[in-house]
Amino acid sequence: MTVPKIIALAGSLRKNSFNQKLINEAARFALESGAEVEVIKLADLDLPIFDEDIEAQGTPVGAQLLKDKLRAADGILLASPEYNGSITAVLKNAIDWASRTEQGAVPAFRNKVTALYAASPGGLGGLRGLNHVRDILSGIGSLVLADQLAVPAIHTVLDESGKISDPVTADKVASLAQQLVSVASKLNK
Ligand SMILES: Cc1cc2nc3c(=O)[nH]c(=O)nc-3n(C[C@H](O)[C@H](O)[C@H](O)COP(=O)(O)O)c2cc1C
Repeated sequence: MTVPKIIALAGSLRKNSFNQKLINEAARFALESGAEVEVIKLADLDLPIFDEDIEAQGTPVGAQLLKDKLRAADGILLASPEYNGSITAVLKNAIDWASRTEQGAVPAFRNKVTALYAASPGGLGGLRGLNHVRDILSGIGSLVLADQLAVPAIHTVLDESGKISDPVTADKVASLAQQLVSVASKLNK
């Protein structure tokens, strides 16, 4: 069996993003499960707000990089913060840039298996936003796993280094990451 390639990213630009910390942990578990994993930080990509006029002058370097990495991946670990019950503008913007196709190119999301995570200091863990993320990604052909994980009170389960200190939460994060690796391995056989 070939080793599945997984991209991990979070829909936040914040330096101390809880969702970035959560997806870093999911990435670590996916790596331990035998996948090749790359964590992408959207803040490093410097994506402008999507504008077809900008795109017509040439896809920005960061957007092209994101697109290329997603196109080459078998699976995606995605953590989405919840803003006002929905997806962040930052994540939707990244999806919009990456979703643009050129003739003959492999689409970034189509037939890619995706595992959805969310984290929030609040009591629902960003669960409501995940419905919207699922809807968007399913609509562009991603195979979004039925299982997902929203972690409430995220600030209480992370230690100072950003690792998950609560074993029950760590098990849930690991289990979803392992499921993604398992499905991605079967898809890329
Ligand atoms: C504009 C805005 C709207 C928010 N709306 C929600 C919300 O609907 N539900 C929720 O659980 N948290 C909400 N929050 C709080 C975020 O969950 C919190 O800021 C979180 O740390 C963001 O994720 P990050 O740490 O990965 O950046 C909101 C925050 C902002 C700035």
